[in-house]
Amino acid sequence: MATSKDMKSQVYRDYQNWAAVSGTLINEAREVFPGGDTRMSAHFAPYPVFIERASGSRLYDADGHEIIDFMNNFTSLIHGHANPAVVAAVTEQMARGSAYAAPTGSQVELGQLIRERIPGVEQLRFTSSGTEATLMGLRAARAFTGRQKIMKMEGGYHGSYELAEVSLVPKPGDRGPLERPNSVAVDASIPDSVLADTIVCPFNQPELAARLIREHAHELAAVIAEPVLGSMGMVPATREFLEMLRAETAAAGIVFILDEVITLRTTFGGAQQHFGVTPDLTAMGKIIGGGLPIGAIGGSTELMRMFHPDEPEPVMHASTFSGNPLSMAAGGAAMQQLNPQNIEHINSLGEHFRQGVADTFSSHGIRGQATGLGSLSNIHLTNTPINDARDSLDGVIAAGNIGSLLHLGMLRRGVASASRLMYCTSTAMQRADVEFAISALDDTLREMKPGIERERPALLA
Ligand SMILES: Cc1ncc(COP(=O)(O)O)c(C=O)c1O
Repeated sequence: MATSKDMKSQVYRDYQNWAAVSGTLINEAREVFPGGDTRMSAHFAPYPVFIERASGSRLYDADGHEIIDFMNNFTSLIHGHANPAVVAAVTEQMARGSAYAAPTGSQVELGQLIRERIPGVEQLRFTSSGTEATLMGLRAARAFTGRQKIMKMEGGYHGSYELAEVSLVPKPGDRGPLERPNSVAVDASIPDSVLADTIVCPFNQPELAARLIREHAHELAAVIAEPVLGSMGMVPATREFLEMLRAETAAAGIVFILDEVITLRTTFGGAQQHFGVTPDLTAMGKIIGGGLPIGAIGGSTELMRMFHPDEPEPVMHASTFSGNPLSMAAGGAAMQQLNPQNIEHINSLGEHFRQGVADTFSSHGIRGQATGLGSLSNIHLTNTPINDARDSLDGVIAAGNIGSLLHLGMLRRGVASASRLMYCTSTAMQRADVEFAISALDDTLREMKPGIERERPALLA
């Protein structure tokens, strides 16, 4: 009788044969780095592939494979890799120096472009990452309101620091009641003081959330939310939920921060334009750097004045690489190319992908769907509707290791995604690339079905 080890062993064996050179390279890397890399999010078992170069929608790995990249460095490469205009702009800038600790025209140009497009941004500050952008937004909110506590969504991700990861992946036993979720530490590094300062809000539950906001109104500096829960599996907010957050925060003098680090790509004016909800502060990152490190926090002139150096007590924001000319050049070249037409193109590829995923799972009689918005998608191995972090995590738990085996099977067939099955499209892609991914899914599910029947029959539809 086969056991779950059998399907895993077979998938690992096939993968290791396919990625043999990467398998050798990871051994050397593990001597230098814990686990062999410097990023938790890019790691997966048994080991990730080493990439040697990339162009457009394609990655080329150390074993000589050509792979279609639906990961795009976690959604940051909206035009794919080595976009010619971005390469030219960065090359030209590099020859003139990489950083001056002084303002530049390119910084102003990119700032103006963002300001013209994003409804909630009257003024902004560049940062070196999305992490720094959300952090500076929270600090500005605290200084502005004189209050300490922050409300974040259960399953929301805002970067790599303590508060930003509270209740990121709360296990069923730790979550607490839906109407009043516990503040759950993501790991043992999170101080109790941070947990005490963080109110966790149930996502997509307007009535419960409104009640919590009212209860804590006197002590809340900010409510921070993603329009689409990204690391929790591309779960879009409802318009009603975001409108409620906007209205309740405005009524209580709480700063409403929309984290658009991932979602800025969904329309020309970001997800805030799509939902018709304008926040007090918008955190940005990823695509605005054209593939180079970046972040930005922007909002009303009144709030952004907290960063004005001539204020008696401005919020301290230094950051050696903020606004560095290389990121400005790359970001400017990328954003100038991004217009409503090519956003429509990548969004329709995303819709085609999600429909293809649903049809393919259904044709194999296996539970599965893809959620998302526009060019952003995530596969879930369940037919239960996904409205919040609990739905998403329960699906992951019920699927056991099938999700990670599916990821390896897809990769071996030339389709790269995040190991949590997040996919995004780029302007370098065509419909044929999406068709390729769907046929890779079809082939992978066909191969896995006997194993699923044996080892996870609950996944059969
Ligand atoms: C919604 C969101 N906010 C913030 C961040 C942090 O951005 P960075 O990785 O550039 O620090 C991320 C990163 O994935 C994100 O998805």
